Amino acid sequence: MMNCFSCTNAKNFREYDEDMVPRSIHDTVVSPRVSGQKNYQKTNVARSFTLKELAAITQNFQEANLIGEGGFGKVYKGQLDCGMTTVAIKQLNLEGLQGNQEFIVEVLMLSLLHHPNLVNLIGYCTDGDQRLLVYEYMPMGSLETHLFGIGPNKEPLSWRTRLKIAVGAARGLQFLHCKANPPVIYRDLKCSNILLDDDFNPKLSDFGLAKLGPVGDNTHVSTRVMGTYGYCAPEYAMSGKLTLKSDIYSFGVVLLELITGRKVIDRSKKTGEQSLIVWAHPFLSNKRKHAQLADPMLGGRYRNRCLHHAIAIAVMCLQDDATFRPSIDDIAVALEYLLAQEDSSSRTSGAKSQTHAPQVSPTTNVKLDPKIQERGGYYVSV
Ligand SMILES: Nc1ncnc2c1ncn2[C@@H]1O[C@H](COP(=O)(O)OP(=O)(O)OP(=O)(O)O)[C@@H](O)[C@H]1O
Ligand SMILES: [Mg+2]
Repeated sequence: MMNCFSCTNAKNFREYDEDMVPRSIHDTVVSPRVSGQKNYQKTNVARSFTLKELAAITQNFQEANLIGEGGFGKVYKGQLDCGMTTVAIKQLNLEGLQGNQEFIVEVLMLSLLHHPNLVNLIGYCTDGDQRLLVYEYMPMGSLETHLFGIGPNKEPLSWRTRLKIAVGAARGLQFLHCKANPPVIYRDLKCSNILLDDDFNPKLSDFGLAKLGPVGDNTHVSTRVMGTYGYCAPEYAMSGKLTLKSDIYSFGVVLLELITGRKVIDRSKKTGEQSLIVWAHPFLSNKRKHAQLADPMLGGRYRNRCLHHAIAIAVMCLQDDATFRPSIDDIAVALEYLLAQEDSSSRTSGAKSQTHAPQVSPTTNVKLDPKIQERGGYYVSV
């Protein structure tokens, strides 16, 4: 799990906006609508569980059922409906109102927004002081566990699977940015929040940090800085100015992690290599050096052309000027194209493609801002 940047202690590293959330689940102030839908879907409404019910399906939150732990608490596996449905139950460490706010945002967002690339919230529990969330179970866990530091006995993710995950994550974000009205800024896009089903279809999880986007003529919403160190857009980290383009920066980081198999910040690496963006910088701007960015675990099993385009998309997302970053619509189209090319080239077993990719041309003159570089170096300007 990455450390968030406002504090090193995972339990209290986030700051919160008092203005951003209603005080209870039923007290919705602003409700995002989904284009084409007059009202929210009334079906798929999250169920309310008692603590007793959730204790029963996790054998009293037994260690054997523990499947993960994040900054907000432990995640357990459980069986619902007489074993017919497997679920993941997150038991939040409530540190006063802050955790409660995240809880309410999570329940609201996930109750209202449904998409194949967003994790499904099955229910919640608010017994006494307890706050638990019940999600659909994602059998392959998070992208983080498949991408970084995998042992010799585990098969690394193939290039195609990485593209497929990037496409699915882009579709989930596209739904939040383009279909929800007002748009939803996700704010916490990172590998540990991308969960995978049996077939490596990705779903975005953890909406506790999500914020309803700007409405009317406003271009951004002001907010105290939250998120995870390394994934946060520079303008958001420095000024708290939050736009949809903040999510695009985080998407660029995730894409670069998928390409390189390296964590955005890895303190176990030697100096100069701890920040992925700093390390990647000389290779990003030089097409001839792109192969040096590719994850060695791929063993060269990717097409160079596809690698160039994927890197070009990442570079565009990582631009320091947020207005130059592409929209998630454009990113999804470009990545879908790359995935389709991958599939057609594997069908024709290496036959050369005559078609051209959408305009995602590799950039030149990528520069790192020295001030940012000192602080861990996490953005490029083109
Ligand atoms: N719905 C789920 N299905 C299967 N595994 C899950 C599910 N939700 C979470 N997990 C597992 O639990 C781990 C912890 O998740 P959690 O969201 O609590 O923390 P995190 O994303 O690692 O960090 P952070 O608290 O900063 O978001 C995940 O990495 C994943 O392996
Ligand atoms: Mg998470």
